[in-house]
Parts: sequence; C-alpha cells; structure tokens
Amino acid sequence: MLERLERLPIDPILGLMGLFRADTDPRKVDLGVGVYRDDQGHTPILSCVRRAEQTVLGRQATKSYVGPTGNIGFNQAMARLVLGEGHPALASDRVRSIQAPGGCGALRLGAELFRSAQPETVVHVSTPTWANHIPLVSGCGLKLERYPYYDPATGGVKFDAMVGTLEGLSPRSAVLLHASCHNPTGADLSEGQWRELLDVFKRRSLLPFIDIAYQGLGTGVAEDAFGVRLFCAELPEVAVAVSCSKNFGLYRERTGCLHVISESPTAGDAILTHLVRIARSIYSMPPDHGAAIVQEILADPTGREQWIDEVTAMRKRITGLRHQLVKQLARSCPHRDFGFIAAQRGMFSFLGVDTAQVRALREQHHVYMTDDSRINIAGLCADNLEYFAQAVAQVLRN
Ligand SMILES: Cc1ncc(COP(=O)(O)O)c(C=O)c1O
Repeated sequence: MLERLERLPIDPILGLMGLFRADTDPRKVDLGVGVYRDDQGHTPILSCVRRAEQTVLGRQATKSYVGPTGNIGFNQAMARLVLGEGHPALASDRVRSIQAPGGCGALRLGAELFRSAQPETVVHVSTPTWANHIPLVSGCGLKLERYPYYDPATGGVKFDAMVGTLEGLSPRSAVLLHASCHNPTGADLSEGQWRELLDVFKRRSLLPFIDIAYQGLGTGVAEDAFGVRLFCAELPEVAVAVSCSKNFGLYRERTGCLHVISESPTAGDAILTHLVRIARSIYSMPPDHGAAIVQEILADPTGREQWIDEVTAMRKRITGLRHQLVKQLARSCPHRDFGFIAAQRGMFSFLGVDTAQVRALREQHHVYMTDDSRINIAGLCADNLEYFAQAVAQVLRN
C-alpha cells in the first residue's frame, strides 16, 4: 500500500538549507532559515537557560509523564508573561492553558478546538502569512481564507483594506493575527490600529486567534503583547498560541502553550476538557524539558532578570542591524528607498526583489533567502553587511 505514495516536492526552506550547506564559497550568507543568530553566526543557548537547566536536572526525581495539560506552573507563568500580571482575564479566572509542543503545536490545538466547537469555522489569515500557518490550520479540515495585510509600496500594513475585509466577515469567523514581529513581513499593527481592530472584532463578533512567537524581540516584552492584552481584556473569547522557541532560544525543546480566554470559568473548564481530548489524540503528553526550564527562569527573580537582559540584547542586535542595513543599502543603492526595513520589527523583512533577482543573489553572490525575498535580519553581521548590500546593488543594476 505505501508504495503508492509519490515523492513530495522538497520543502523550500529545507531545500535552501541544503543548497547553503553545499556552497563552499567563504563569502556565503544565510538569510533563509528563521532562527536568531549572534554576530558570530551562532544560535546560542541563553545563559539563563543554561543556569535553569542545571537546577531543573538537579531537582528532577522522575521521568514519569507530565499529564496532558503539561506543566501547570509553566502554563501559569506563561499566562502572566503574555497577559501581564493582574490582567482582568486572569483576575476573573477566564484563562485556561495547555502546554503544547512548540508554537506549532499550540496553533494546531487551537485550530482543532475551533473545529470541535464549529466544524464549518473559516480561519482568515493575512496575505502573506507564515507559510506553516496554512498546513497547521487547514490540516485539521478547517477552511482558510485570506485578508489583505502587507503593502509592498510602503513596507507597512494595508490597514484600510484589512479592516474592509474583516468588516465583511460573518460572525464567529476566526481571524489569525500576529501579535508582533509579523512573519514574513516585519510589518506590525500600531497600538492605535489594534484599538480600531478591536471595534471591528466586537461589532462583527469575530474570534481572534493570536500567534505570539516573538515576544520581546520587537519593541519590548510588554509592548509586543499589547494587542493580545487588549483583546483578552475586552473580548469574550480569544485563543493565543505562544512559542518559546525564539525568545528563550529553546527551538528543539518544543516549548509553547495555548491560552484560551472564554466567557466564564465554567466555559473555560469545558474548553479544557476538549483540549485534553485533542492533545491525547495527537501526541498525548507534551515534552517536559523546555517548559521546566522556562518555569524555573520565570519563577526565579535572578533568572527572570537575566532573561530580560538577554532578550533585550537580541532585540537590540536586530534593531541595530536593521538601521545599519538601511544605511549600507542607501550607500550602495541610492536610487531605491529601503527605509521601511528600519521601521519594521522582528527578525524578518521582505527585501522586495523579484524571484529572478533572488536566484541571482544566490547563484552569483552566494546570498540565500526564500524566493519571496524574505530575509532573516539576524543572519547579517558586521562581516557581511557591506558585502550583502553591494550584492543587492549589483543584482538591481542588471
Ligand atoms: C509566526 C510563527 N508562529 C509560530 C512559530 C512556531 O514555532 P515553534 O513551533 O518552533 O515554537 C513560528 C516559528 O518560526 C513563527 O514564525
């Protein structure tokens, strides 16, 4: 039976990683893979993680299962981190949380929950959105539609078009929003725009599904959660998928959670029984290690302070690189305005060149990015910035 399966096309990012590895040119630059890098090109283990890991390992007395909702202390600490201490949804006991295998696991749990409640739910995603949102959300059978989001002419958000589309949705439509550091565009909603959106969600009875995968890497830990905090305070139902992969550097430990804010503690308890059933049917129990580390960091004032310092350093490096890149590009490509890159947030931006130019950058200059020209800003460093800007200039000239 299995011999009927035909080979699938290679995943574009994995394909790009293979090409990069095989390239022997010492000048090669990897702006494709979406992981944070330091100035030496490493994806470091944070010091707060190393410290907490020792404590966790020293204390661990069993490898027995953690239970389908995962580490309760981690779930609670993450609810406070995302929503802020004393958030009204926490104070009124309207938040229910389940640990998940990374942000991807949380996104799938949320989508499966919507399907359980209303199988015909349509989930609306931004144009463009992170490529993996599509299979994660539609893989459980939900229909996906799109709303306008990125404006290549300005490097910002097509806010009026976005609102226009959302205004036309039927009540109980789900809308997937990026809390901050929009992947792949780097174009985020302003606080004023979040407030305007809130009115639309209230008026149209829409269900927000907010993906927060970069808290702390955009503007600040609280600032990057502004929209989540506002929506969870003001709306009866919100689902929030959280990833600790980037801001805690825990990628391979598969650490994340799903928070669901509902109308009442009783509704929340019922929702949690469904989330447990869904988790049991997919992977049963989440892994422990990453969540135990995050719980330890957030519970220990020294660990928390160290994490804030480390996430601030990552953010400052990315913001600094954005400004340096704009300066270098202004020098090498004076006829084109790349200023939007400095106004955007997080690890990603679209360079705004076409597929042929992306290929030329790869084949002639050993610079790797996805075909849509998404660049991972953290892949740049003092040694390759100028080289990269000159490569872009040459490709634009041809
Ligand atoms: C927008 C977005 N959401 C969620 C995730 C989930 O990441 P993970 O499953 O590794 O925690 C990512 C990772 O790249 C992302 O970019």
